[in-house]
Amino acid sequence: MAPRKIIIDTDPGQDDAVAILLALASPEDLDVLGITAVAGNVPLALTQKNARIVCELAKRPDIKVFAGCDRPLRRDLVTAEHVHGKTGLDGPQMADPTMPLQDQHGIDFIIETLRSEPAGTVTLCPLGPLTNIATAFEKAPDIVDKVQEIILMGGAYFEAGNITPAAEFNIYVDPEAAEIVFKSGVPIVVMPLDVTHKALTTAPRVAAFRDLGTQVGDMVAAWTDFFERFDKEKYGSEGAPLHDPCVTAYLIKPDLFTGRHVNVEIETVSELTKGMTVADWWRVTDRPANALFMGDMDAAGFYDLLTERLARL
Ligand code: BDR
Ligand code: CA
Repeated sequence: MAPRKIIIDTDPGQDDAVAILLALASPEDLDVLGITAVAGNVPLALTQKNARIVCELAKRPDIKVFAGCDRPLRRDLVTAEHVHGKTGLDGPQMADPTMPLQDQHGIDFIIETLRSEPAGTVTLCPLGPLTNIATAFEKAPDIVDKVQEIILMGGAYFEAGNITPAAEFNIYVDPEAAEIVFKSGVPIVVMPLDVTHKALTTAPRVAAFRDLGTQVGDMVAAWTDFFERFDKEKYGSEGAPLHDPCVTAYLIKPDLFTGRHVNVEIETVSELTKGMTVADWWRVTDRPANALFMGDMDAAGFYDLLTERLARL
């Protein structure tokens, strides 16, 4: 089968970085048409730069990286330096990238790509706030029906929130954008905290990255070391959740994940719960299903896949 064409929409972030590396390490499965950066974990000037750092680390300076939106649709930007550090990729020392940022705006790249590729052949992979995707859908409604699928990291049901008691970061930062995407009618697969909190780094898993004996293995281990300190201190967990690589792992090996087709609505009004993903997990309403909301994963299989693929870079 031909590799699946994807656009990665991202706010790197150490876990975004690992998600991108996994995609670039898997050319037989995934054809990365481009990477669009969005403001999220850190401001856009850093996320677009970090995306290029990651491509260069993977020895893929040919990948086209675009800057997208620098702020949410209708709110001030909320960032997460408390998790990812000042640069968004804190941990190991990294040189500035030399590969160029594309001149074209990320939104126009998304629109142009969906218009030029055959309908139903391009999958969108958002790993950050949904601002770029929603903006593209609003600017060019004709592209919505052309999207094959959206596989995204965001939201939570049983795990509730990680930025407020009710909301997960990516959805909280731009709930209006999330609402547009979830109402778009495009088939959506959601990797919520319920799943990603099972994708925990552990000492042996990080050691396996380091034992690859490669620059990529060392970087990923150093990033996860940095990323872990927040979760260990805050939640007392064994390690840190590699949230975003769940998206690219699903594209390569969907059987690692299980979930339910349910209705998911986004809270945009309440100050208390804004950004909450109201997932009808128990199907207590007759609202139509609009997403495959994941609930469980094979974490050991996920780390095996990650280590095996990263070894190639
Ligand atoms: C999500 O927020 C970001 O901090 C991570 O990169 C991930 O996309 C987890 O809530
Ligand atoms: Ca992210």
